Amino acid sequence: MNGRIIGISGPTVSVDLKGLRLYERVVVGRAGLMGEVVRLEQERAVVQVYESTRGLGVGEPVTGTGTQLTVRLGPGLLNQMFDGLQRPLEAMRAAQGPFIRPGETGAAIAAPRRWRLAPAKNPGDAVRPGETVGCVEDGPFRHPILATGAEGRLGAVVDGDFDEDEPVAMLEDGRRIHAFEEWPVRLPRPYRRKLSRFEPLITGQRCIDFLFPLARGGSAIFPGGFGTGKTLLEQSIAKFADVDIVIYVGCGERGNEMAEMLDDFSVLADPWSKRPLMNRTIVVVNTSNMPVAAREASIYTAVTMAEYYRDLGYNVLLLADSLSRWAEALREISSALEEMPGEEGYPTYLGSRMAEFFARAGVVETIGGQVGSLTVLLSISPPGGDFTEPVTQACLRNTGAFFMLDTSLAHRRHFPAINWFQSFSLYESDVAAHLDRLVSPEWGALRQRTRELLQREESLREVAEIVGTEGLQDTDRLLMHTTEGIRRRFLAQNAYTDDAFSTPEQTCARIRRLLETHDAAGARLGKGESLSEVLGGRA
Ligand SMILES: Nc1ncnc2c1ncn2[C@@H]1O[C@H](COP(=O)(O)OP(=O)(O)OP(=O)(O)O)[C@@H](O)[C@H]1O
Ligand SMILES: [Mg+2]
Repeated sequence: MNGRIIGISGPTVSVDLKGLRLYERVVVGRAGLMGEVVRLEQERAVVQVYESTRGLGVGEPVTGTGTQLTVRLGPGLLNQMFDGLQRPLEAMRAAQGPFIRPGETGAAIAAPRRWRLAPAKNPGDAVRPGETVGCVEDGPFRHPILATGAEGRLGAVVDGDFDEDEPVAMLEDGRRIHAFEEWPVRLPRPYRRKLSRFEPLITGQRCIDFLFPLARGGSAIFPGGFGTGKTLLEQSIAKFADVDIVIYVGCGERGNEMAEMLDDFSVLADPWSKRPLMNRTIVVVNTSNMPVAAREASIYTAVTMAEYYRDLGYNVLLLADSLSRWAEALREISSALEEMPGEEGYPTYLGSRMAEFFARAGVVETIGGQVGSLTVLLSISPPGGDFTEPVTQACLRNTGAFFMLDTSLAHRRHFPAINWFQSFSLYESDVAAHLDRLVSPEWGALRQRTRELLQREESLREVAEIVGTEGLQDTDRLLMHTTEGIRRRFLAQNAYTDDAFSTPEQTCARIRRLLETHDAAGARLGKGESLSEVLGGRA
């Protein structure tokens, strides 16, 4: 099927090709750029192009491919860096230098590998959809190969090496089971059912784990103005989170930040398995200098890979920094399509797109009957730190936890700058029971007390502004002394020191010490000692 370009508007082109389908992938222009059909009209189709449309001319040829934008799923994804279209950036750089040639497809460059299957089934065995046929070693990661959609008796199973395009097993009726599959990124992957069980996801950040805990399969956003520590917080969580697989999307952020992160990740070990971090990580990069349409696609590429590992029965964490850049890409494309703009120029479907995206998070029973989870954690950069803007609001309606990054805390160099009054987590009560059991039966009680002290400090601060700290009673001044300790030594965590990561046990021990000291000092005040005596001259 061939057609021609009849118009170009920024990242989108109109083509006169008949018979295209919505979301079909097309090859645009003489350079063979990749694009996707985003609108169909009677006489024309509109295509968003994933590469720079600079130099493209009206009349150049366009071809439909009959397939949607897909990602390739299978072993070998870990420890890699992809662009928004899943092109392997390292392999492409090695092959052609730092600039990706337009129209280049990644698969053509990454040489197909040979893999070795350790079979879990023998010829003659029955197999059901989602059952494990065998395992492949992807570095230290054991990658199960599942029978997708196939039910029957196995006729043959590979025992040993196989090529990427070869089947790993064959049913008696001749149907094949492959280790690799292509999946359309816009289509959520299937599972048996969603489960509503919420286990804690430990991030290693005391403020989150203790005050606003995250659940595996949950979602969280952290909006923050310029320089409030969004990127550092995302990266810290990517390093330390207690999950099997991490997928990190650098969405429209600075390229050098991504480079530094990769350097960091290649030398550090994951604190839970002690293995190199990159062995559990996939990075999707769409820095600010890459075309907007690819940025729009990048979060779908990432979430599809994340779902794939969830379907293998793993706990997966998807992080994106920053979702605002994705929303801006959406806005840019929408405006090129001359769609009716909604609030602040964002398309009217921003909210529904967000809801669909958040719905891909969750704990599921997989087709094969295992349990896997996909947790989504997104940073947002509201312009001017204004949380009433459309992207933050659209996310707020869908997310289970909200960590508000506070500009004034960041100015005081209190990091992570999570505001402990404005943030919330809907997982708190579900997760608290687990933490009481896993870490310490006092966990919940300690949290309650900490909250009360911080609340009380807030109201005392107002009084102190009028009468001065000297005007406060000794017990109140002690309280303010303690809460300062809580803020500086407990809630704040310097990402550049060993304190960057705190186990739940360490978190619990640290807050217990602070509160015990507070209680002991309170008892001495009660016996008539003065505050300066109690604090040893530090009052
Ligand atoms: N946990 C932390 N420990 C120590 N310093 C921190 C921490 N978090 C942030 N910072 C400091 O704040 C600076 C800005 O952080 P970061 O780049 O993560 O902010 P951002 O919100 O992503 O900024 P931008 O809006 O520009 O994307 C860092 O360079 C660092 O100096
Ligand atoms: Mg940043």
